[in-house]
This record gives sequence, structure tokens and C-alpha cells, in this order.
Amino acid sequence: MSNRNDHPWWESGTVYQIYPRSFQDSDGDGVGDLAGIERRLDHVAALGVDAIWLSPIFPSPMADFGYDVADYCGVEPVFGDLDAFDRLLAAVHARGLKLLLDFVPNHSSDQHPWFVDSRSGRDSPKRDWYIWRDPGPDGGPPNNWISDFGGSAWEYDAASGQYYLHAFLKQQPDLNWRNPDLKAAMLDVMRFWFDRGVDGFRIDVLWHIVKAEGLPDNPPNPYWRPGITERDRLIQRHSTDQPEAHAIAAGMRALADSYGGRVLIGEIFLPNDRHARWYGTPERPQVHLPFNFQLIENAWDAATLRAMIAAYEASLPPYGWPNWVIGSHDAPRIAARIGEAQARVAAMLLLTLRGTPTLYQGDELGIGQVDIPPDRVRDPQELRQPGIGIGRDRSRTPMPWDASPHAGFSTVEPWLPLNPDWPTRNVAAQENDPGSMLALYRRLLALRRAHPALAVGDFRLLEAADGVLAYERRDGDAVVRVALNLTDWERPMPFVGEALLSTLDAATSDVLRANEGIITH
Ligand code: NOJ
Ligand code: MG
Repeated sequence: MSNRNDHPWWESGTVYQIYPRSFQDSDGDGVGDLAGIERRLDHVAALGVDAIWLSPIFPSPMADFGYDVADYCGVEPVFGDLDAFDRLLAAVHARGLKLLLDFVPNHSSDQHPWFVDSRSGRDSPKRDWYIWRDPGPDGGPPNNWISDFGGSAWEYDAASGQYYLHAFLKQQPDLNWRNPDLKAAMLDVMRFWFDRGVDGFRIDVLWHIVKAEGLPDNPPNPYWRPGITERDRLIQRHSTDQPEAHAIAAGMRALADSYGGRVLIGEIFLPNDRHARWYGTPERPQVHLPFNFQLIENAWDAATLRAMIAAYEASLPPYGWPNWVIGSHDAPRIAARIGEAQARVAAMLLLTLRGTPTLYQGDELGIGQVDIPPDRVRDPQELRQPGIGIGRDRSRTPMPWDASPHAGFSTVEPWLPLNPDWPTRNVAAQENDPGSMLALYRRLLALRRAHPALAVGDFRLLEAADGVLAYERRDGDAVVRVALNLTDWERPMPFVGEALLSTLDAATSDVLRANEGIITH
């Protein structure tokens, strides 16, 4: 019989994503910071997760809120400094938790000294650290590529008469990983943080980092229609998922492995077959966990989820450990998308599937829809393509800690508004309410720790009535079964067993109540 301890921590454990701007402000500027995170570590520890991933904390002009890095080896003054980081890391480790940083290798800020140098002229020694090209034959951009945030992916630089590539904002020029010096400099960045003691990285848009030689036009997407994001007009065939990017991921992994006990989580959006390749091979592994966003991307019904889970499990190489994500600073809040009752079922699903779960801050409180007034919109993606429902501010609102002014997040008006129900939906209120979402998350995480079958056991889908998703987790003789009712109606229980936990109250019955999830053994 296996045991949680036979698995590396990143397989048996759970990751909690903190969006530093919105966790806890400690210096009264309305923006969260590292000292604030340190102050709130008790919440993270009490939740029962194993690791924290921090969205970028590096010096940044904040055009894309930290995903535009101006110095990979420093700390943004709004968040603190390297000493504050070292204190936070020590405090995290003292609680037996791990700390992952967000590595942003595809692009830097246009304010990064490397780009300032690169832009200074065609003779700059750093010219080739970014992707510069002459204009196309008509004097326009070198190819048809579209930025993920809308508009051409090319920006003209009049001084040198060339364009530079930016997959995201023009303030985020793409780095050229085909240049050996750039590559070496970026691996040194990873060393810098590994040497400081970080336990790994979440790697931003990893599948973007190398582009096809010759930068050919991307083909049109026949399924695009107005109203969906402009990026999807084209299929990103030549701008993403190149073989050379896999080789680079393998190099990053070799570096991580040379330290031992570190983990790499790659942000990768691809269909299963291409996605699975990012594990690499046993001889030449790539990332430990290619992020799996399919719980976010798929319709919330039992049949869809069942088929998706089966296909994902089947796509994994034998040595590939699965993982699941249900929320992030980019995606709409799960409770906004499927409602609070189903968000409880979603929590049970996330924490009982086979694979490492990543939780997003605030989802443990069931924060739902937050309408951002137009004058408070900050997300550059929303500002560039308003009105099509892609705004990311609504999942980046500050953590509501208690019912004191500004929810205990800050002493001043926060940089984004709070969830409107913060006076009642906050950590302090939910801590005292056994029926709260927070109480449910804590119980689920405790159960995962108590039952190796849940943390690391095998997985098998079970037959169930329409609208019900059921599966078994098995570790040797220990069997745990899960039944999730994704409907608003009572449904038959697919199996009998002693209830360990329900998403509703403690009472159990021989049917699944509306919106009920049950774990039995
Ligand atoms: C993915 C990040 O999660 C998102 O917030 C960011 O805007 C893009 N990558 C660009 O770095
Ligand atoms: Mg602050």
C-alpha cells in the first residue's frame, strides 16, 4: 500500500495561488505586498495546502501587473525588497510550506535594461536578445501575427526602422530564446532564485517561448467570429509550441533537478496530445506539471466533465502526474460561473480528482461575480478589448479578511474594489461558520491528507445516473468513492458507503440531494 510520503510533495500536495497585489496590504498604499503575505500565512497554513505560488513580485512598470518584468532578480518596491522576500521565504518554510515564484521567460518589460539596450540601435549587443525584423514588403508588420491582447503582435521602432515582436502588450517585447546569451542569462535568473531557496517556478506561457524559423504567417481560424477575442482569428501554429521550446523546457528541468526537490509548473494551453508532450520523457523530462485548465474551459455538466476527465487521464504518459486548476487571476471566478451551490461541488471535485490541485486565493471563500465599475477597470486586456467579457479584474479583487473598514485588506481604498458582499463573505466570518465554503475547503484538504487514496491513489470513473459524476480512488485496499450531483434535482446515489463528507450538511440520505457532493468509504 502506497503512502503520501512515497510521493514527492508536488504530487501528493496542493498549491495555493496568491496574487500579491490583492492578498494583504501592510503599508497602507492600497496594494498588497510581501510583508502582508507574511502576516497572513496562518490562513494559508490553516487551510491545509502544501505550497504557495506567488504571481510575479519583480520590479515592473505594471503595464500587465507584474507580467512585464523590468528586473528578473529583484523585488518590486510596491511589494517590498529582497530582505522582505527572504523573510517571507523563511516564514513559509518555517510552516512546512513551499514557495514557488512566477518565472516570465517569454517576454520582459520594455523598461528592462536589456530591451532599452536592444532598442538603442541595430548594433546593440543585445539587439538579438529580442525579436527584431525588417518591415514586410508593403512596409507593414513582418507577418500577420496577432497579439494575445488584440492588434498586431509587432511594434514599429522608427529610430531603427524595424519592428519588434510582442505576443502580449507592446510593453512586453518577446525575448529571443534562440540567442545563446539570452538563454544563459535566463537560466541564471532561475539559479538566482533557486540559490535563495525557492522551491520552484510556475512558468508563464511556456509554450510561447520559441517561434518557428522564418516567422511564417499563422493560418486563419475558420471558427473565429466577431465577439470572441481577436487573438483567435488565427491559429497560433508558428508562434507557439515549437520543438525547440521543448528542448528549452528540458534544460530548465535539468537545472531544477540539479538542485533537488524543486518543481516546475508550465502554463500551457494546448489540446491533450500536444499538452502531454510537455512532460518530456523519463530520460529527458520537461516540466513536472503542465497546467491543466480543462475544468475552467469545459461546460459544467456531468457528461462533459466525465468525457473530459477520461480523455485527459488517457492522454497522460505513464510517468506523467496529472494536475487540475479551477481558478486563476486570468479566469472568471468559479462561483460566478457556476453559482455558489455548484462551486461547493467543484471544490470537492478539484480536491478528489487524481492529480495536484491548484487553488486560487478567494475561491476558498466562494467569491462570486464582482462587477467592476468602468472607471475602476485596470486590466489592460479588458481596456484594449472592452465588452466581450474577458475582464480579469473581477478575479483579482482584494481578499476580504474581516468586517473592518476595507475588509482588513488595507487601511485605504484598495487598488480594485472588494467583492460587494465582503461584510459577510470574509475569512473571519467563515472561520466561525461550519457551513461556510472555507470550512468545506478545510475539511476537504484535511481529508486529502488523511486518506492517501485521495492524495495519490488510482482513479476510476464509475457508472452513475444522468447529471451525476462518480469515481473511485483506490490505494491498496483503501477505497474512497465520490459522487457529485451537478444538477438542481435529487438524483440516485450510484453506490452505498459510509459518508466521510457532504458538500451540504452532515445529514446523509440514500439519495444525492440537489447540488450535493458526497465522499464515502
Ligand atoms: C499569463 C498570465 O497568467 C497573464 O496574467 C499574463 O497577462 C500573460 N501570461 C502574459 O504574461
Ligand atoms: Mg502595500
